[in-house]
Amino acid sequence: MSSKQPDTAAPALPDIATPVVRWQAEHGRHALPWQNTRDPYRVWLSEVMLQQTQVATVLGYYERFLERFPDVQALAAASPDEVLALWSGLGYYSRARNLHRCAQEVAQRHAGTFPRSVAELAALPGIGRSTAGAIAAFCFGARAPILDANVRRVLTRVLGYRADLATAAGERGLWQLAEALLPEGDPQTCMPRYTQGLMDLGAGICLPRRPACMLCPLHDVCVARREGQPERYPVRTRATRRSAQDWWLLLQRDDAGRLWLERRAPSGIWAGLYCPPVFDDRASLDAAALACAGQPLQELPPIAHGLTHRDLLLHPVLARADSAGPGATALQEGVAGAWFTPQQWRAAGLPAPVRQLLEGLVASGIQKQ
Ligand code: ADE
Repeated sequence: MSSKQPDTAAPALPDIATPVVRWQAEHGRHALPWQNTRDPYRVWLSEVMLQQTQVATVLGYYERFLERFPDVQALAAASPDEVLALWSGLGYYSRARNLHRCAQEVAQRHAGTFPRSVAELAALPGIGRSTAGAIAAFCFGARAPILDANVRRVLTRVLGYRADLATAAGERGLWQLAEALLPEGDPQTCMPRYTQGLMDLGAGICLPRRPACMLCPLHDVCVARREGQPERYPVRTRATRRSAQDWWLLLQRDDAGRLWLERRAPSGIWAGLYCPPVFDDRASLDAAALACAGQPLQELPPIAHGLTHRDLLLHPVLARADSAGPGATALQEGVAGAWFTPQQWRAAGLPAPVRQLLEGLVASGIQKQ
């Protein structure tokens, strides 16, 4: 086995680039819609969509986005609401807002052409070091490392890297190692393949649980495999605790069959999306419902919805608002709400469970088309 010597006096690093590049050519993915292109717009869009989302989910969204916004200028010229509406259901909505801002910066400050360096790419909204590295490697053949969640897992296992990635020092150390592991051949050919190879290993072989070590091209050099417990990597010293919350949603309908939706605050859960008014408890919802004279209230079955660190239990409650006046919470300071016809809410940026809830109302005949 060949090995590479980093600049420091640290132990020799294994050559993982050669087997990863070879394995990618033979066993990796080659027909994803964002592959076989060096167009930074297409690659950037896919990388942002894939930041916290599985390939299978991204596929449909990616095609729809490209159809509606074929280039960065088209996306830059869109309204934020239209971008949010197309993103609706992908989650992590700050990505959609940053995507739009990034398109505007590229259009205005870079004359519509994505910059080529990792530093300039990483200075754009929503592009962290790893996404910048991926774009630079895929589009420009740059010798830039990536460290998304899958690649962190692959590299910490191969190297037996035990430092806590939640600390700045632990993270910095892994970036340095990722850099030292980059292939030494012609970057124009090696870098796209190596980068995709690490992603493919993380997605299909080096799984969080029950990794398929027997199929892994790094089987012979992997420290975690040799130790016998690869699942112990990456090492986490600080566990993030999940919390549970009940949210009461007031679904107010007016006589014309429209629903009252409010734009959520610009930060926090479902930031910037449209949603029925949310209350922490039933008593607060009842008090607000009284104000819109919509009695009696009809409780609908609760809906469980998992967020990254939180489990939400949504309790929808239906109220009929007698007139087309403002919704119950419209008079609160800073609340921007409006009555939406089904056609309007279908085109708006809604959180995925709210969209399902509203479509469910239509399907059950409670809400007209
Ligand atoms: N996850 C992040 N980037 C990816 C890519 N280019 N292909 C597949 N999965 C990915």
